[in-house]
Amino acid sequence: MDKQELAEKILELKKKKNAVILAHSYQDIEVQALADFTGDSLELSRKAAGTDADMIVFCGVDFMAESAKILSPDKKVLLPASEAKCPMARMADAEGLRELKKENPDAVVITYINSPAEVKAESDCICTSSNAVRIVEHYKDRKIIFAPDRNLGNYCKIMTGADMIIWDGYCYVHDEFSIGDIYIAKHEHPGCILLVHPEAPADVLEQADFIGSTSQITKFVEDNIADMDENAGVIIGTEVEIARILQLKFPNKRIYPLADHAVCLQMKKTSPDDVYNSLLNEKEEIFVSEEVRKKALKALNKMLELSK
Ligand code: 13P
Ligand code: SF4
Repeated sequence: MDKQELAEKILELKKKKNAVILAHSYQDIEVQALADFTGDSLELSRKAAGTDADMIVFCGVDFMAESAKILSPDKKVLLPASEAKCPMARMADAEGLRELKKENPDAVVITYINSPAEVKAESDCICTSSNAVRIVEHYKDRKIIFAPDRNLGNYCKIMTGADMIIWDGYCYVHDEFSIGDIYIAKHEHPGCILLVHPEAPADVLEQADFIGSTSQITKFVEDNIADMDENAGVIIGTEVEIARILQLKFPNKRIYPLADHAVCLQMKKTSPDDVYNSLLNEKEEIFVSEEVRKKALKALNKMLELSK
């Protein structure tokens, strides 16, 4: 099948099965082109919670499809590439979190959406990179346990002054950014400002002109790039797909990834063929036990309530 045929077949199946395709903005451009909605973790959670489709095909990684199932239990949720599992999400475990809670009985637990359902179920509130500071701010009069991303946790601690116990997890894509990358990028692209995702380490964030989630970075560029002259431009400190897509949108502007090594291999596991096969065979279906789901839903709903 050529690309056009494949896209038509996907559209046909989507209509027949009343399905919606959601794609995270780190997915390959060809996969994003097949989606009804693209965006960051918070935007896609909102879409998953609000859709009236019968089936959600989630082009992303495991915790995203799982969150969609928690929010929309009556829908069939499919992850087209079953091996697309976020390594950071797996750094947190429910057993360890329960231990930490026992040692700190008065603490409130805020968990990053990049986590397994069982960990969400042990949490008071979930956050994403676009609302983490706001949510920590909300709870800052109490001691906070934050899991699993140490960089996002530290960033929230610096921004709010909250008393936080931070899990030692990290995203290998963003944690790899270094001062050396910034030095090289600024040397190669003089006059450009630096935009960085809060999963990056503190010394990298310190050098940023703007810090935000994937959608916040995208929006910043969309809102500001038209006014930049030919000597100015942007260096994008997150997964490389964001800079690629922005460069396609603004072909005459100077847009560069902070480093070519910033590739999320797990996000790249989904292909257009996988999307087609997923819709056709209704695989891989995501399941969450009802006991875990109910508890995790409370924490996810708290996040949605606090980020209105
Ligand atoms: P956001 O989509 O919230 O920016 O998070 C990035 C990410 O790493 C998703 O896995
Ligand atoms: Fe996980 Fe990082 Fe990939 Fe996001 S970019 S899915 S946090 S490994």
